[in-house]
Amino acid sequence: MDNQAEERRNVVMSLQKEVFGLHEKYSKSMTVATKGNPKDLVTNADRAIEKLIVEKITKNFPNDKIVGEEYGISSKGTNGFVWYIDPIDGTLNFVQGFNNYGTSIGLVSDGEIVFGAIFSAEDNNTYWAAKGKGAYCNKKRINVSKKDKLSDFCIQFDLQYNSDAANKTFDTLKKIYPKIRAFRHTGCCVCDLIKVATGKADVYWAQEFLKPHDFCAGAIIVKEAGGFVSHEDAEKFITPEQGSLFATNGKLHKEIVNMVLKEYSKK
Ligand code: IPD
Ligand code: CA
Ligand code: CA
Repeated sequence: MDNQAEERRNVVMSLQKEVFGLHEKYSKSMTVATKGNPKDLVTNADRAIEKLIVEKITKNFPNDKIVGEEYGISSKGTNGFVWYIDPIDGTLNFVQGFNNYGTSIGLVSDGEIVFGAIFSAEDNNTYWAAKGKGAYCNKKRINVSKKDKLSDFCIQFDLQYNSDAANKTFDTLKKIYPKIRAFRHTGCCVCDLIKVATGKADVYWAQEFLKPHDFCAGAIIVKEAGGFVSHEDAEKFITPEQGSLFATNGKLHKEIVNMVLKEYSKK
């Protein structure tokens, strides 16, 4: 990690206590609104956390671009660094009182994801990775699973706020289920990416609509933990654009992408 990325990592890490404090505070009392689609929720916690992170980054790096889920582009940027912030990934879980949610902060440099941190409410740990430096849970290295047989795989699948895509997914799951060990579903992209990065799950698949603020941080964490993450081109590491997402332990990446797309695309 060069000095510029290291400085940025330190600033993000300095936010840990405050962000975990906001998770706790607002989980006891929050206000909830929908964002047009009744499945897509926002709370005052989402807004407060994004504001905190944006203020901290702007103060320290006024020339960086900042893109957040709730406030869009908060800073235009001039230097090639772009931050993608999801103040709460898994808002619906947060509203329901489940702890499967987390705050996600990803950093892109000249188009490439170089750093990411997730403050996970599931276990109050910080998962992070920097390009070429490995992936960590707080200070401890983490690794993807070593499994290489499809019949042993546990696959986390996602459902987004689109019923047609959900129906296509249900049909795809039916076809794949006999070939694998298990499907699991949390409703939180960052939680599932952490599960792949720590070897608890072997694959995470999300349909067409995932956005850079959902996956930037988690994608580099999976990669640095030894796995691979792509859009539909299984050979190319994911770029910060909306699309499908496949995160795997790296062993059967191409096979998984082909298997899922063969069923999903023909619907
Ligand atoms: C959502 C979660 C979910 C995914 C949705 C995302 P949000 O994020 O990551 O797992 O299926 O597409 O929008 O709305 O809770 O930040
Ligand atoms: Ca999200
Ligand atoms: Ca969110």
